[in-house]
Amino acid sequence: MSRDVHVIDHPLVQHKLTLMRRKDTSTKSFRELVHELSALLAYEITRDMPMQEIEIETPLEKMTSRVIDGKKVVLASILRAGNGFLDGMLQVIPGARVGHIGLYRDPATLKAVEYYFKMPQDMHERDVIVLDPMLATGNSAVAAVDRLKKTGPRSIRFVCLVTCPEGIMTFHDAHPDVPIYTPAVDRGLNEHGYIVPGLGDAGDRIFGTK
Ligand code: URA
Repeated sequence: MSRDVHVIDHPLVQHKLTLMRRKDTSTKSFRELVHELSALLAYEITRDMPMQEIEIETPLEKMTSRVIDGKKVVLASILRAGNGFLDGMLQVIPGARVGHIGLYRDPATLKAVEYYFKMPQDMHERDVIVLDPMLATGNSAVAAVDRLKKTGPRSIRFVCLVTCPEGIMTFHDAHPDVPIYTPAVDRGLNEHGYIVPGLGDAGDRIFGTK
């Protein structure tokens, strides 16, 4: 199995991520940057999406030309920080469907427990992009993809802003077939499960809750 990790090192992506990492970046700027970065990430993630040929007519003549079927794309947001990716990605893939996955960590077992799951119908003909800004321990990402696979989608891709070797290993041990798209693989996790150097708590920074 492939265990693909696509590190997106385009200068625009790296520049925006650097600005987001800075502790002095305001909530307003952070939100604007995640919006811009999401659109750029969507461009890379959809690079190998299936296309179909359709008949069109230019002002001069008929031709066959290629399109992606945006409606076949599902943006699956892991609540709550995954929602930060939605506006920017929908700007580039406006026909995409949006699903939500809510998980919390049971303090006794430390396992991810699902409290919300809503996806479009007919998942077997759809390509899913799972959204979670931080692939840290990997536990919630694994649980989210476990659950998504039960719906039988045509393909699954995972996208984050920052990850680390531990997160990649845990995720790919469980789901080696799901490629990870990320601008950065950081040094590791600290004792609180945060990615270092990272960018802090992505949800708090997007929604201004701290
Ligand atoms: N979740 C975050 O928001 N940040 C981290 O560094 C790890 C998990």
